[in-house]
Amino acid sequence: MAARSLKPGVHAVGVLDWDKPLFDDLIPLPDGTSYNAYLIKGQDKVALLDTVDHAFCDELLANLAAAGTSKLDYVVSQHAEQDHSGSLPAVLARFPEAKVVTNQKCAELLKLHVHLPAEAVTLIKDGDTLDLGGRTLQFIFAPWVHWPETMFTHLREDKILFTCDFLGSHRATSDLFADDEAQAYLAAKRYYAEIMMPFRARLASYIQKIESLGVDMIAPSHGPVYRRPQFILDAHKDWIADKPKNHAVVAYVSMHGSTKIMADRLVDGLLDRGVGVTRINLPTMDLGQMAMALVDAATVVIGSSTVLAGPHPAAASAAYVANMLRPKARFATVIGSWGWGGKTVETLKGLLGNLKVEFLDPVEIKGLPTEPDLQAIDKLAATIQEKHAGL
Ligand SMILES: Cc1cc2nc3c(=O)[nH]c(=O)nc-3n(C[C@H](O)[C@H](O)[C@H](O)COP(=O)(O)O)c2cc1C
Ligand SMILES: [Fe+2]
Ligand SMILES: [Fe+2]
Repeated sequence: MAARSLKPGVHAVGVLDWDKPLFDDLIPLPDGTSYNAYLIKGQDKVALLDTVDHAFCDELLANLAAAGTSKLDYVVSQHAEQDHSGSLPAVLARFPEAKVVTNQKCAELLKLHVHLPAEAVTLIKDGDTLDLGGRTLQFIFAPWVHWPETMFTHLREDKILFTCDFLGSHRATSDLFADDEAQAYLAAKRYYAEIMMPFRARLASYIQKIESLGVDMIAPSHGPVYRRPQFILDAHKDWIADKPKNHAVVAYVSMHGSTKIMADRLVDGLLDRGVGVTRINLPTMDLGQMAMALVDAATVVIGSSTVLAGPHPAAASAAYVANMLRPKARFATVIGSWGWGGKTVETLKGLLGNLKVEFLDPVEIKGLPTEPDLQAIDKLAATIQEKHAGL
């Protein structure tokens, strides 16, 4: 690892986690991730913004040494989650004079998660500033992106906004800056879909606030730094917009191929009718791809064989995750094949209770689809097209 400069006196001292396969033991990380931490040197005081996952605390300490850190006055904690707070005890052991600067809620969570003693903390309020000598940090509370205590930090003189987990991406890359915007876009969309989408309703006000600051750089806690802030703000404005796109997600599981025939017929019917589709074969899917498709889709269709009187567990799991992520979809339904009886449709419908959707008539068939069964699927495709036209 290395300490690299964003600007003179502002160093990226975080670490790259090239190998991490899953975030939160759930989300595949095709490109690994990074835990960003930033060292900010004023004329009088030195502050470290966040730490890194506990597994990388030695690398963080080495990076601090490489950046010439002989004393540390403050460690600002923007977020108590362990990927950013895990090395806080090690940093305080190395720099016992440092004060942890954070908000009340974060202090409570740090006490729970890393056993940070209350006496190590200096509490700040929303809008408070911290003078480093020629450099001023201003704290902007931003609860629920994605925990209750999260906050941003504005380094005013340098026009850099540190946005914590918000606007980040899971990407281990040697690029300090996200100048390749096509690559940055997809990684940021995957990250938004999985982490920020459930909080979509409150993001517009944060974006507005950030725009009003007129910063030159946005430095999140994961992934590269944006030197053109409007790029990542515009991408998020599109993702959080209320109106979904003319797009359907068809996510299915089929043990013996009948539900697959239905799913394929639906995909073709939608394509024929000009509706965009993401087709997902659930047992082998990448959860990130499903989440990304849910960012824009107007319709969610879950397809499942009936197994042991209910949906296949892969379909139940997908419905559960879609429900957690609270996408902006307006319509949902279920298709599938069964043999003698069960509660597949009711169970899947029940799992999607958070979604503010109109449930379209499901298509449940027995065994291998017949021609009338496939016509029922064509009718569903036509209904979806009509519904999307009315959006
Ligand atoms: C392990 C297993 C359990 C099943 N349990 C049920 C059931 O409880 N109720 C039912 O109606 N059909 C049940 N079936 C039958 C399937 O739902 C039926 O074969 C259906 O056509 C499979 O669709 P597929 O080809 O998309 O997998 C079961 C099939 C298997 C293999
Ligand atoms: Fe987090
Ligand atoms: Fe994080």
